[in-house]
Amino acid sequence: MDNDILKVLYSTDEIHAACSRLGRQIQKTYADKVPVVIGVLKGATFFMSDIVREIDTYMEIDFIDVSSYHGATQSSGQVDLITDISTDVAGRDVLIIEDIVDTGRTLKFLMTNLSERGAKSIKVCTLLDKPEGRQVEAKSDFIGFQVPNEFVVGYGLDYDEKYRNLPYIGVLKPEIYTNN
Ligand code: XMP
Ligand code: MG
Repeated sequence: MDNDILKVLYSTDEIHAACSRLGRQIQKTYADKVPVVIGVLKGATFFMSDIVREIDTYMEIDFIDVSSYHGATQSSGQVDLITDISTDVAGRDVLIIEDIVDTGRTLKFLMTNLSERGAKSIKVCTLLDKPEGRQVEAKSDFIGFQVPNEFVVGYGLDYDEKYRNLPYIGVLKPEIYTNN
């Protein structure tokens, strides 16, 4: 897999340091609350499992699966709910954990959906933010790194369902997705 990577953006150590930093911020925010922490499948699973172990406060965790990419490197524009959470979020403080905010469509969909169910507060923690990709307004409260407008893979992020298990985040060589 390493041969398919043009350059490494964030090493395993840098990702871990970001998780510690974000975890401290999140812990302060929810010190006297019991948030429902919702990881967005599948990309955020690695980040989710690392970051919640950096937060020393009571919490519930759940997962939601939404899809907008369908194996391509460009968002299709439509967001579908694939698998829902099992937690009732009415009156709860919700923290969404995302791998990357790109066009912002996924986050906008999630914010609307969860607020319609009566969440008391909704905050967002994303490992990566790609501001140049934005097509709809979407703001995160906790951000690991800002990435350039390139397709990134690893540490949960995929291209066509592959590369999620890379232990670092890198930019995929363009010939990998233009040859397919
Ligand atoms: P949007 O565009 O809705 O994107 O903000 C959110 C979801 O799209 C996926 N995504 C990517 N996945 N490399 C990836 O592997 C990327 O550069 C990339 N940009 C967006 C991701 O699953 C995210 O949750
Ligand atoms: Mg995703």
